[in-house]
Amino acid sequence: MTTEIEAILAVTNRDMDAVFHAVPDDADALFTWDYEKGARPALSKLYEKAKTSQWNGATDLDWSIDVDPERVCAEMHGSDYRSAFLRRLAEQPGSPVANWGDKEWAAYTNETFLHRVSQFMHGEQGALLCTAKIVETVPWIDAKYYASTQVMDEARHVEVFSRYLDTKLEGHYPINAHLRMLLDDIIRDSRWDMTYLGMQIMVEGLALAAFGFMHKITTEPLLKRLLRYVMSDEARHVAFGVLSLQEYYAGLSQAEIRVRQEFAFEAAIRMRDRFLQQEVWDRLGVDTKVMVGHLLALPREENTFQKMLFSKIVPNCKKLGLLDAGDGWLREKFTEIGVIEFEDWVDTGEEYEALDEVAKDRAASANATA
Ligand SMILES: [Fe+2]
Ligand SMILES: [Fe+2]
Repeated sequence: MTTEIEAILAVTNRDMDAVFHAVPDDADALFTWDYEKGARPALSKLYEKAKTSQWNGATDLDWSIDVDPERVCAEMHGSDYRSAFLRRLAEQPGSPVANWGDKEWAAYTNETFLHRVSQFMHGEQGALLCTAKIVETVPWIDAKYYASTQVMDEARHVEVFSRYLDTKLEGHYPINAHLRMLLDDIIRDSRWDMTYLGMQIMVEGLALAAFGFMHKITTEPLLKRLLRYVMSDEARHVAFGVLSLQEYYAGLSQAEIRVRQEFAFEAAIRMRDRFLQQEVWDRLGVDTKVMVGHLLALPREENTFQKMLFSKIVPNCKKLGLLDAGDGWLREKFTEIGVIEFEDWVDTGEEYEALDEVAKDRAASANATA
Protein backbone atom coordinates (compact mmCIF):
# COMPACT_ATOMS: atom_id res chain seq x y z
CA MET A 1 0.00 0.00 0.00
CA THR A 2 2.80 2.43 0.91
CA THR A 3 4.41 2.00 -2.50
CA GLU A 4 1.04 2.57 -4.18
CA ILE A 5 0.56 5.81 -2.24
CA GLU A 6 4.10 6.93 -3.04
CA ALA A 7 3.69 6.14 -6.72
CA ILE A 8 0.48 8.17 -6.81
CA LEU A 9 1.98 11.12 -4.97
CA ALA A 10 5.13 11.06 -7.08
CA VAL A 11 2.97 12.37 -9.89
CA THR A 12 2.66 16.07 -9.17
CA ASN A 13 2.20 19.19 -11.17
CA ARG A 14 5.41 21.12 -10.65
CA ASP A 15 4.93 23.92 -13.11
CA MET A 16 1.72 25.39 -11.76
CA ASP A 17 2.58 28.86 -13.02
CA ALA A 18 3.55 27.87 -16.54
CA VAL A 19 1.21 29.12 -19.23
CA PHE A 20 2.12 26.54 -21.88
CA HIS A 21 2.73 22.81 -21.84
CA ALA A 22 4.24 21.21 -24.96
CA VAL A 23 3.69 17.57 -25.88
CA PRO A 24 5.68 15.97 -28.73
CA ASP A 25 3.38 14.47 -31.33
CA ASP A 26 4.91 12.46 -34.16
CA ALA A 27 1.80 11.16 -35.89
CA ASP A 28 1.43 11.37 -39.68
CA ALA A 29 -1.00 13.94 -41.04
CA LEU A 30 -2.88 11.88 -43.59
CA PHE A 31 -4.46 13.11 -46.82
CA THR A 32 -7.03 10.87 -48.44
CA TRP A 33 -7.94 11.03 -52.13
CA ASP A 34 -11.01 8.93 -51.52
CA TYR A 35 -13.69 11.61 -51.25
CA GLU A 36 -16.68 9.28 -51.35
CA LYS A 37 -18.97 10.80 -48.78
CA GLY A 38 -21.21 8.36 -46.93
CA ALA A 39 -19.01 5.31 -47.46
CA ARG A 40 -19.46 4.88 -43.72
CA PRO A 41 -23.17 5.67 -43.27
CA ALA A 42 -23.19 5.72 -39.47
CA LEU A 43 -20.39 8.31 -39.37
CA SER A 44 -22.01 10.29 -42.15
CA LYS A 45 -25.30 10.39 -40.24
CA LEU A 46 -23.46 11.59 -37.16
CA TYR A 47 -21.82 14.37 -39.19
CA GLU A 48 -25.16 15.54 -40.57
CA LYS A 49 -26.59 15.51 -37.07
CA ALA A 50 -23.66 17.51 -35.71
CA LYS A 51 -24.13 20.23 -38.33
CA THR A 52 -27.67 20.90 -37.16
CA SER A 53 -27.03 20.54 -33.44
CA GLN A 54 -24.54 23.36 -32.97
CA TRP A 55 -25.27 25.89 -30.24
CA ASN A 56 -23.67 29.12 -29.24
CA GLY A 57 -22.10 29.25 -25.81
CA ALA A 58 -22.31 33.02 -25.71
CA THR A 59 -25.98 33.45 -26.65
CA ASP A 60 -27.82 30.15 -25.96
CA LEU A 61 -26.97 30.30 -22.25
CA ASP A 62 -28.22 33.04 -19.97
CA TRP A 63 -25.03 34.47 -18.50
CA SER A 64 -26.98 37.19 -16.69
CA ILE A 65 -28.09 34.60 -14.10
CA ASP A 66 -26.66 35.33 -10.67
CA VAL A 67 -24.89 32.32 -9.21
CA ASP A 68 -24.30 31.67 -5.53
CA PRO A 69 -21.06 29.64 -5.64
CA GLU A 70 -21.44 28.20 -2.15
CA ARG A 71 -24.92 27.00 -2.84
CA VAL A 72 -23.94 25.35 -6.12
CA CYS A 73 -21.11 23.50 -4.43
CA ALA A 74 -23.12 22.53 -1.35
CA GLU A 75 -25.89 21.13 -3.48
CA MET A 76 -23.50 18.84 -5.32
CA HIS A 77 -22.27 17.60 -2.04
CA GLY A 78 -25.66 16.89 -0.57
CA SER A 79 -25.82 13.79 -2.73
CA ASP A 80 -25.43 10.32 -1.27
CA TYR A 81 -21.80 10.51 -2.27
CA ARG A 82 -21.06 12.55 0.77
CA SER A 83 -23.34 10.97 3.28
CA ALA A 84 -22.06 7.44 2.81
CA PHE A 85 -18.51 7.69 1.58
CA LEU A 86 -17.24 10.76 3.38
CA ARG A 87 -18.77 9.69 6.65
CA ARG A 88 -16.84 6.46 6.37
CA LEU A 89 -13.74 8.48 5.62
CA ALA A 90 -14.17 10.56 8.77
CA GLU A 91 -14.83 7.48 10.89
CA GLN A 92 -11.63 5.70 9.97
CA PRO A 93 -9.17 5.50 12.88
CA GLY A 94 -6.63 8.30 12.56
CA SER A 95 -8.55 10.04 9.79
CA PRO A 96 -7.30 13.61 9.29
CA VAL A 97 -10.91 14.73 8.82
CA ALA A 98 -12.26 13.01 11.94
CA ASN A 99 -12.78 16.28 13.79
CA TRP A 100 -14.06 18.33 10.95
CA GLY A 101 -17.12 20.44 11.64
CA ASP A 102 -19.51 22.19 9.29
CA LYS A 103 -17.04 24.94 8.48
CA GLU A 104 -14.34 22.55 7.30
CA TRP A 105 -16.78 20.43 5.34
CA ALA A 106 -18.15 23.53 3.67
CA ALA A 107 -14.63 24.52 2.60
CA TYR A 108 -14.00 20.98 1.36
CA THR A 109 -17.26 21.04 -0.57
CA ASN A 110 -16.30 24.25 -2.26
CA GLU A 111 -12.79 23.17 -3.18
CA THR A 112 -13.86 19.72 -4.39
CA PHE A 113 -16.41 21.13 -6.75
CA LEU A 114 -14.04 23.77 -8.10
CA HIS A 115 -11.36 21.13 -8.54
CA ARG A 116 -13.73 18.77 -10.30
CA VAL A 117 -15.16 21.28 -12.74
CA SER A 118 -11.65 22.63 -13.39
CA GLN A 119 -10.46 19.17 -14.39
CA PHE A 120 -13.41 18.86 -16.74
CA MET A 121 -12.40 22.15 -18.32
CA HIS A 122 -8.81 20.95 -18.79
CA GLY A 123 -10.16 17.67 -20.17
CA GLU A 124 -12.21 19.68 -22.66
CA GLN A 125 -9.06 21.32 -23.90
CA GLY A 126 -7.53 17.86 -24.18
CA ALA A 127 -10.51 16.90 -26.34
CA LEU A 128 -10.05 20.02 -28.46
CA LEU A 129 -6.42 19.11 -29.24
CA CYS A 130 -7.21 15.41 -29.70
CA THR A 131 -10.00 15.96 -32.21
CA ALA A 132 -7.90 18.43 -34.16
CA LYS A 133 -5.34 15.64 -34.30
CA ILE A 134 -7.94 13.09 -35.41
CA VAL A 135 -8.90 15.37 -38.31
CA GLU A 136 -5.28 15.00 -39.44
CA THR A 137 -4.62 11.35 -38.69
CA VAL A 138 -7.81 9.36 -39.34
CA PRO A 139 -7.78 7.84 -42.85
CA TRP A 140 -11.53 8.02 -43.62
CA ILE A 141 -13.13 11.13 -45.13
CA ASP A 142 -16.42 10.64 -43.21
CA ALA A 143 -14.44 10.57 -39.97
CA LYS A 144 -12.44 13.68 -40.90
CA TYR A 145 -15.68 15.50 -41.62
CA TYR A 146 -17.23 14.46 -38.34
CA ALA A 147 -14.10 15.18 -36.29
CA SER A 148 -14.04 18.73 -37.64
CA THR A 149 -17.45 19.36 -36.05
CA GLN A 150 -16.18 17.98 -32.78
CA VAL A 151 -13.30 20.47 -32.81
CA MET A 152 -15.89 23.25 -32.80
CA ASP A 153 -17.92 21.52 -30.08
CA GLU A 154 -14.86 21.23 -27.84
CA ALA A 155 -13.89 24.86 -28.33
CA ARG A 156 -17.36 25.76 -27.12
CA HIS A 157 -17.02 23.46 -24.11
CA VAL A 158 -13.70 24.97 -23.05
CA GLU A 159 -15.26 28.40 -23.50
CA VAL A 160 -18.35 27.77 -21.36
CA PHE A 161 -16.60 25.88 -18.57
CA SER A 162 -13.88 28.48 -18.21
CA ARG A 163 -16.43 31.27 -18.26
CA TYR A 164 -18.51 29.54 -15.61
CA LEU A 165 -15.54 28.82 -13.34
CA ASP A 166 -13.90 32.20 -13.66
CA THR A 167 -16.94 34.48 -13.66
CA LYS A 168 -19.60 32.54 -11.70
CA LEU A 169 -17.51 30.48 -9.30
CA GLU A 170 -14.24 31.39 -7.63
CA GLY A 171 -11.78 30.63 -10.42
CA HIS A 172 -10.17 27.40 -11.56
CA TYR A 173 -7.58 24.93 -10.32
CA PRO A 174 -4.50 24.04 -12.39
CA ILE A 175 -4.61 20.70 -14.15
CA ASN A 176 -4.28 17.61 -11.96
CA ALA A 177 -1.02 15.80 -12.65
CA HIS A 178 -2.68 12.40 -13.27
CA LEU A 179 -5.07 13.90 -15.77
CA ARG A 180 -2.23 15.72 -17.49
CA MET A 181 -0.21 12.52 -17.77
CA LEU A 182 -3.18 10.78 -19.31
CA LEU A 183 -3.77 13.57 -21.84
CA ASP A 184 -0.05 13.61 -22.66
CA ASP A 185 -0.05 9.85 -23.32
CA ILE A 186 -3.10 10.12 -25.55
CA ILE A 187 -1.69 12.97 -27.60
CA ARG A 188 1.83 11.53 -27.83
CA ASP A 189 0.72 8.19 -29.27
CA SER A 190 1.26 8.08 -33.02
CA ARG A 191 -1.48 5.51 -33.75
CA TRP A 192 -4.69 7.29 -34.74
CA ASP A 193 -6.99 4.83 -33.05
CA MET A 194 -5.29 5.40 -29.68
CA THR A 195 -6.43 9.02 -29.72
CA TYR A 196 -9.98 7.77 -30.08
CA LEU A 197 -9.64 5.12 -27.40
CA GLY A 198 -8.09 7.48 -24.89
CA MET A 199 -10.27 10.49 -25.63
CA GLN A 200 -13.63 9.42 -27.08
CA ILE A 201 -14.01 6.18 -25.15
CA MET A 202 -12.24 6.78 -21.84
CA VAL A 203 -12.06 10.53 -21.10
CA GLU A 204 -15.33 11.48 -22.80
CA GLY A 205 -17.09 8.34 -21.57
CA LEU A 206 -16.23 9.41 -18.04
CA ALA A 207 -17.23 13.01 -18.71
CA LEU A 208 -20.61 12.01 -20.13
CA ALA A 209 -21.38 9.97 -17.01
CA ALA A 210 -20.17 12.73 -14.68
CA PHE A 211 -22.09 15.48 -16.48
CA GLY A 212 -25.23 13.35 -16.30
CA PHE A 213 -24.75 12.92 -12.57
CA MET A 214 -24.10 16.62 -11.97
CA HIS A 215 -26.93 17.67 -14.26
CA LYS A 216 -29.37 15.56 -12.28
CA ILE A 217 -28.32 17.05 -8.96
CA THR A 218 -27.88 20.76 -9.60
CA THR A 219 -30.80 23.18 -9.53
CA GLU A 220 -28.65 26.15 -10.55
CA PRO A 221 -30.30 27.02 -13.88
CA LEU A 222 -27.21 28.21 -15.77
CA LEU A 223 -25.10 25.20 -14.83
CA LYS A 224 -27.97 22.82 -15.48
CA ARG A 225 -28.51 24.16 -18.97
CA LEU A 226 -24.80 24.32 -19.70
CA LEU A 227 -24.32 20.69 -18.68
CA ARG A 228 -27.34 19.55 -20.64
CA TYR A 229 -26.07 21.20 -23.81
CA VAL A 230 -22.57 19.84 -23.34
CA MET A 231 -24.02 16.36 -22.81
CA SER A 232 -25.85 16.55 -26.14
CA ASP A 233 -22.48 17.02 -27.82
CA GLU A 234 -20.58 14.51 -25.69
CA ALA A 235 -23.02 11.73 -26.51
CA ARG A 236 -22.20 12.24 -30.20
CA HIS A 237 -18.49 12.28 -29.43
CA VAL A 238 -18.57 8.98 -27.58
CA ALA A 239 -20.70 7.51 -30.40
CA PHE A 240 -18.04 8.69 -32.86
CA GLY A 241 -15.44 6.71 -30.92
CA VAL A 242 -17.56 3.58 -30.66
CA LEU A 243 -18.56 3.59 -34.34
CA SER A 244 -15.02 4.22 -35.62
CA LEU A 245 -13.22 1.77 -33.39
CA GLN A 246 -15.74 -1.01 -33.90
CA GLU A 247 -14.79 -1.14 -37.55
CA TYR A 248 -11.07 -0.76 -36.99
CA TYR A 249 -10.75 -3.30 -34.17
CA ALA A 250 -12.45 -5.95 -36.28
CA GLY A 251 -9.28 -6.03 -38.38
CA LEU A 252 -6.72 -6.13 -35.56
CA SER A 253 -4.81 -9.16 -34.29
CA GLN A 254 -5.16 -10.56 -30.79
CA ALA A 255 -1.82 -9.03 -29.79
CA GLU A 256 -2.81 -5.60 -31.10
CA ILE A 257 -6.10 -5.77 -29.21
CA ARG A 258 -4.26 -6.62 -26.02
CA VAL A 259 -2.24 -3.41 -26.34
CA ARG A 260 -5.57 -1.51 -26.56
CA GLN A 261 -6.92 -3.30 -23.51
CA GLU A 262 -3.87 -2.29 -21.51
CA PHE A 263 -4.09 1.29 -22.73
CA ALA A 264 -7.75 1.45 -21.68
CA PHE A 265 -7.01 0.11 -18.23
CA GLU A 266 -4.08 2.43 -17.71
CA ALA A 267 -6.35 5.34 -18.60
CA ALA A 268 -8.94 4.11 -16.12
CA ILE A 269 -6.37 4.09 -13.32
CA ARG A 270 -5.12 7.58 -14.16
CA MET A 271 -8.67 8.89 -14.11
CA ARG A 272 -9.35 7.18 -10.81
CA ASP A 273 -6.19 8.67 -9.29
CA ARG A 274 -7.20 12.13 -10.38
CA PHE A 275 -10.22 11.81 -8.11
CA LEU A 276 -7.92 11.45 -5.12
CA GLN A 277 -7.64 15.22 -5.64
CA GLN A 278 -4.26 15.75 -4.01
CA GLU A 279 -4.43 19.47 -4.78
CA VAL A 280 -7.61 19.91 -2.74
CA TRP A 281 -6.17 18.26 0.38
CA ASP A 282 -3.09 20.37 -0.02
CA ARG A 283 -5.06 23.57 -0.20
CA LEU A 284 -7.10 22.57 2.85
CA GLY A 285 -3.95 21.94 4.86
CA VAL A 286 -4.52 18.19 5.20
CA ASP A 287 -1.55 15.80 5.05
CA THR A 288 -2.02 14.50 1.52
CA LYS A 289 -0.08 11.30 2.03
CA VAL A 290 -2.14 10.29 5.05
CA MET A 291 -5.36 11.26 3.28
CA VAL A 292 -4.60 9.33 0.12
CA GLY A 293 -3.79 6.31 2.29
CA HIS A 294 -7.20 6.57 3.91
CA LEU A 295 -8.96 7.01 0.61
CA LEU A 296 -7.27 3.96 -0.89
CA ALA A 297 -8.10 1.88 2.18
CA LEU A 298 -11.84 2.32 1.69
CA PRO A 299 -13.74 -0.05 -0.59
CA ARG A 300 -14.17 1.84 -3.83
CA GLU A 301 -17.65 0.39 -4.30
CA GLU A 302 -18.78 2.74 -1.56
CA ASN A 303 -17.83 5.82 -3.52
CA THR A 304 -20.94 6.05 -5.64
CA PHE A 305 -19.81 9.07 -7.60
CA GLN A 306 -16.50 7.55 -8.62
CA LYS A 307 -18.10 4.28 -9.49
CA MET A 308 -20.78 5.88 -11.63
CA LEU A 309 -18.06 7.44 -13.72
CA PHE A 310 -17.45 4.04 -15.28
CA SER A 311 -21.07 3.51 -16.23
CA LYS A 312 -20.46 4.49 -19.86
CA ILE A 313 -16.88 3.29 -20.23
CA VAL A 314 -17.52 -0.35 -19.36
CA PRO A 315 -20.46 -0.98 -21.75
CA ASN A 316 -18.63 0.87 -24.53
CA CYS A 317 -15.51 -1.26 -24.02
CA LYS A 318 -17.76 -4.29 -24.16
CA LYS A 319 -19.34 -3.14 -27.40
CA LEU A 320 -15.87 -2.72 -28.87
CA GLY A 321 -15.01 -6.30 -27.88
CA LEU A 322 -12.26 -5.10 -25.54
CA LEU A 323 -13.74 -6.66 -22.43
CA ASP A 324 -13.57 -10.28 -23.48
CA ALA A 325 -10.92 -10.30 -26.21
CA GLY A 326 -8.02 -12.68 -25.64
CA ASP A 327 -8.30 -14.24 -22.22
CA GLY A 328 -10.73 -11.59 -20.96
CA TRP A 329 -7.89 -9.55 -19.48
CA LEU A 330 -9.83 -6.30 -19.30
CA ARG A 331 -12.89 -7.98 -17.78
CA GLU A 332 -10.69 -9.24 -15.00
CA LYS A 333 -9.15 -5.81 -14.42
CA PHE A 334 -12.50 -4.02 -14.37
CA THR A 335 -13.71 -6.67 -11.93
CA GLU A 336 -10.73 -5.95 -9.67
CA ILE A 337 -11.51 -2.23 -9.52
CA GLY A 338 -15.18 -2.96 -8.85
CA VAL A 339 -16.84 -1.55 -11.99
CA ILE A 340 -17.71 -4.64 -14.05
CA GLU A 341 -21.36 -4.41 -13.00
CA PHE A 342 -21.92 -1.71 -15.64
CA GLU A 343 -21.13 -4.00 -18.56
CA ASP A 344 -24.75 -4.34 -19.66
CA TRP A 345 -25.74 -0.73 -19.21
CA VAL A 346 -26.69 1.15 -22.35
CA ASP A 347 -23.74 1.77 -24.64
CA THR A 348 -23.31 5.10 -26.42
CA GLY A 349 -23.39 3.96 -30.06
CA GLU A 350 -26.95 5.23 -30.47
CA GLU A 351 -27.73 7.16 -27.33
CA TYR A 352 -26.89 10.54 -28.86
CA GLU A 353 -30.26 10.81 -30.59
CA ALA A 354 -32.09 10.67 -27.27
CA LEU A 355 -29.71 13.12 -25.63
CA ASP A 356 -29.94 15.82 -28.31
CA GLU A 357 -31.30 18.76 -26.35
CA VAL A 358 -30.62 21.29 -29.08
CA ALA A 359 -32.89 19.47 -31.54
CA LYS A 360 -35.60 19.23 -28.88
CA ASP A 361 -35.39 22.96 -28.12
CA ARG A 362 -35.60 23.86 -31.79
CA ALA A 363 -38.63 21.61 -32.28
CA ALA A 364 -40.31 23.15 -29.25
CA SER A 365 -39.73 26.73 -30.39
CA ALA A 366 -40.88 25.86 -33.93
CA ASN A 367 -44.11 24.42 -32.47
CA ALA A 368 -44.59 27.48 -30.31
CA THR A 369 -44.36 29.85 -33.26
CA ALA A 370 -46.45 27.65 -35.62
FE1 LIG B 1 -16.38 18.27 -24.65
FE1 LIG C 1 -16.38 15.82 -26.27
